[in-house]
Amino acid sequence: MYKIITKRQLNPDVYLFEIEAEAISKKVQPGQFIILRVDDFGERVPLTIADHNETKGTVTIIVQAIGSSTIKLSKLNEGDCITDIVGPLGKPTEFEGAKRVCVVGGGVGTAIAYPSAKYLFNHEIKVDMIAGFRNTEMIILEDEMQAIATNCKIMTDDGSNGNKGFVTDALKQMMEEVDYDLVIAIGPIPMMRAICDCTLTKQIKTIVSLNPIMIDGTGMCGGCRVTVDGKTKFACVDGPDFDGHLVDFTNLVERNKMYKEEEGHKCRLTKEAK
Ligand code: FES
Repeated sequence: MYKIITKRQLNPDVYLFEIEAEAISKKVQPGQFIILRVDDFGERVPLTIADHNETKGTVTIIVQAIGSSTIKLSKLNEGDCITDIVGPLGKPTEFEGAKRVCVVGGGVGTAIAYPSAKYLFNHEIKVDMIAGFRNTEMIILEDEMQAIATNCKIMTDDGSNGNKGFVTDALKQMMEEVDYDLVIAIGPIPMMRAICDCTLTKQIKTIVSLNPIMIDGTGMCGGCRVTVDGKTKFACVDGPDFDGHLVDFTNLVERNKMYKEEEGHKCRLTKEAK
């Protein structure tokens, strides 16, 4: 059993949990994930580790309450326990001698992007952050991003924070001012695709995290299959990070549409049951 030490609601749908998991906290590297089961009957949910504290023996996850398991998780409180946690899993993000990096997060993907930025900051590599949200109410981790980023731009679709626009607008502007040798983009698939299109024009290496397409995280369901450089890969086994310029986004978007109807049906049932 894994005890919840801290719970914080970051926006109407998103919760942060700091959980006792000593062995994982000692091994985890940026980009890696855990699989948890809330209780004996729970689904396996893969979640990127957003932060960890070796001294306290804890890992932090950030969860959007969107399906039955994540809604169940969001109802747990400090002192409650999670039945199973396995990890760390997945290949760590490779920064390969990068000297000037821009990390871009979209929505709750910002929670996955932030640990990479923090790792770079802790290793004295200059990092900028761009994050995009629907509106001010949905912004998460603003103080944490401001604390580590040389430049931090938070964009909103409706401009309610005074910065109306997409993350690509901010990135295009920042690419004019800074010579990045690496961009890391994590968020919805169309956002990651648009970021890759931007960086391709300047041939800036771009890593995307395909964690959002994982289902069970075991390499068995096939839900995270993706074509990279013409080869079939699985995000949970071969990733979750990939060179974004080699990912076949057209195929990925088409595959993702296949689950939309079932996901919508399940979400409706879950909301009705709340
Ligand atoms: Fe099921 Fe990767 S998430 S195979």
